[in-house]
Amino acid sequence: MTKVLIATEKPFANIAVAQMSEVCKNAGYEVSLLESYKEKSELLQAVSDATALIIRSDKIDQEVLDAGKRLKIVVRAGAGYDNVDTSYAKEKGVCVMNTPGQNSNAVAELAIGLAILGIREFFSGKAGGELRGRVLGLHGYGYVARNVHRIARALGMTVKVYTRYSKAQAASQGIEVAKSLEELYAVSDVVSIHVPARGEHIGSVSMEILSHLKENAIIVNTARKEVINEDDLCEFMAQRTDVKYLSDIAPDCTDTFKEKLEGRYYFTPKKIGAQTAEANINAGVAAAEQIVDFIEKGDNTFQVNK
Ligand code: 3PG
Repeated sequence: MTKVLIATEKPFANIAVAQMSEVCKNAGYEVSLLESYKEKSELLQAVSDATALIIRSDKIDQEVLDAGKRLKIVVRAGAGYDNVDTSYAKEKGVCVMNTPGQNSNAVAELAIGLAILGIREFFSGKAGGELRGRVLGLHGYGYVARNVHRIARALGMTVKVYTRYSKAQAASQGIEVAKSLEELYAVSDVVSIHVPARGEHIGSVSMEILSHLKENAIIVNTARKEVINEDDLCEFMAQRTDVKYLSDIAPDCTDTFKEKLEGRYYFTPKKIGAQTAEANINAGVAAAEQIVDFIEKGDNTFQVNK
């Protein structure tokens, strides 16, 4: 019997789980659900007889992959797969996929929400500003950034982007592509970060880049904390008391923010960018369908560890 394990420390909406289960059951698979688990041992136990695994930000390391003795495929229902040891999975012949674009509108709406929270002085009552007429700089131009662009345009913002790999797509949307990351940070009133926690992006928001920010700039990070050089961020924000930082998930240096940067930051209590019923349905059902297509037809279109 093919068993699909849905293991989510941060559960999907019930309606998403119901639809995902239906896709799997229609294919004749058994579905097992491990939600809100507290100990890794629970995941190790649950994965032991699973053929396929659907996860979110759950950490899938060597130990989990070794425990999944029958595992053929892991699908990260979402975009970032920095939580999965993709090369070890490859060694073991386990296919790893993500579901690109499926939760991007939810994250984009949060990015805009954070920008509004920042420019309106955290809804404190202090006079703030408006997004209309301001420059939004997109650091990266993947699925989330494209949705942020769509919403920002409707708000009357001017959107610019820095991207290395999606220049043509950005240009086709009429977005001005900055020549360098420094230039993007220098011209933007709001910078919204949309690069993955991989390769050259790790720590890429460093003092060298931050020092170009214009007065009263707002940085919105709905990507990963790893793309920020946190020491540089804290040092920069201590120097530049006009700048604000709003992020989906707290950085490791939260204590420094609390002690020294009060009133100029906001962190979500846990990563909530994709935490909507719609995003859960889109990403969760896509994950289930990708599993069925992989097992039944060998379709590995979305494999990230080829
Ligand atoms: C993603 O990479 O898709 C988002 O960060 C969402 O992550 P989540 O599934 O843990 O909410």
